[in-house]
Amino acid sequence: MTATTTPIGSGVAEVLSARRSVRTFLDAPVDPAELTALAWAAQGDTGDGHRTTPSAGERWPLAVTSVVRNVGGTAPGLWRWEPDAGRSTMVAAGGFGPALAACTVDARDWLAGAAAVLVLSADLEAACAAFATEPPAWERGARYVWLEAGAAAQNVALQAAATGLGAVLVAAFDDDLVHRVHPALLPEGHDPLVMVAVGHPAI
Ligand SMILES: Cc1cc2nc3c(=O)[nH]c(=O)nc-3n(C[C@H](O)[C@H](O)[C@H](O)COP(=O)(O)O)c2cc1C
Repeated sequence: MTATTTPIGSGVAEVLSARRSVRTFLDAPVDPAELTALAWAAQGDTGDGHRTTPSAGERWPLAVTSVVRNVGGTAPGLWRWEPDAGRSTMVAAGGFGPALAACTVDARDWLAGAAAVLVLSADLEAACAAFATEPPAWERGARYVWLEAGAAAQNVALQAAATGLGAVLVAAFDDDLVHRVHPALLPEGHDPLVMVAVGHPAI
């Protein structure tokens, strides 16, 4: 296939072409079903013992916590995705967007304007221990986690593009500051891996 050839499987190809990083959002609520679809895209139970993203050794180490600001009928706060239940549960109430924005390198001015920010995290030490026998020892597991986080983040971005929402992956942030946003933002032992900000695009 050359660069000018129209890809086959147009549904996926159109979404791939439509995906662009969006950093300016309307102050309009996202439908809660859309937020559920985004979390499902990241770590959805597909009903056959697997999830929407691949996982080394079928460990599925990623957690998805949505920092909700403007989602219809949904209280602002931290909402943890439960893959088995197919829903998110609030783990802390409050507006954490500004605190999250302050953790970033170049998203300080706009991240808090997103309707929600999905924070993907994992226990890197546990992953390294699980794959300690694979070279490079005590490193392979972390590599797997980072790869899975990239796949999950892209799933979220593509799901957003498919429904006309805007999204952007944000990975330039200070881990230590993210840890301090709220004790419930990350499950015990987890480190932040990547955030995906979502909302109705302003442009
Ligand atoms: C690993 C990675 C980290 C990124 N981190 C940030 C970030 O911290 N802040 C940001 O505004 N965009 C970030 N981006 C988005 C890129 O800037 C964006 O993908 C790039 O400008 C290309 O534009 P496009 O996504 O619209 O094609 C990141 C992208 C990747 C793949």
